[in-house]
Amino acid sequence: MTRAVYPGSFDPVTNGHMDIIDRASKIFDELIIGVLLNQSKKPMFSVDERVNLLEHLTENYPNVTVKKFDGLLVDFAHKEDARVIVRGLRAVTDFEYELQMAQTNKVIADDLETVFLTTNLKYSYLSSSIVKEIASYDGDIRQFVDPQTEAEIRSKLNDNGGK
Ligand code: COA
Repeated sequence: MTRAVYPGSFDPVTNGHMDIIDRASKIFDELIIGVLLNQSKKPMFSVDERVNLLEHLTENYPNVTVKKFDGLLVDFAHKEDARVIVRGLRAVTDFEYELQMAQTNKVIADDLETVFLTTNLKYSYLSSSIVKEIASYDGDIRQFVDPQTEAEIRSKLNDNGGK
């Protein structure tokens, strides 16, 4: 049985992330989405809100669970007894950062393998920040996120006076 973790900030989850989750859930027996409590980013959604959104979107995936984590990714993977780290590669610009992360993780945890899935071309330009920026100018984000996520982004922007 192969258990994999798919880590990220997911602030918020987009259709690009969902494409990776859908495909990874068909490759691995179990997939754990690890939602990072990222100290270096100022998130729009709290880590629990991000977990809730992902749980809602993955409720029809019996082999997918969602957990929050803090600290090193390799420690989280070990704690969850996972052997594989899944990451999506959107474009060549992701490559250097992802390679550095995968190689560093390999040095500190030799038992873990990083597997890259190429992001669907439809989403190769997409990022959570772009979605939030378009929404902040009242643009249409329905093709990038699911309806509940869209509603929650709009509600956050309203609470924060559009920022
Ligand atoms: N579709 C759409 N967007 C995607 C995407 C996809 N398939 N894959 C990545 N992105 C976007 C995200 O939306 C995000 O956009 P943003 O910067 O506008 O928010 C961006 O790409 C990168 O985000 P993410 O994939 O969430 O990565 P991250 O850089 O926030 O976090 C971790 C990556 C969690 C794997 C890394 O920070 C980590 O391991 N942290 C734990 C600490 C640790 O172990 N450090 C040592 C690592 S060597």
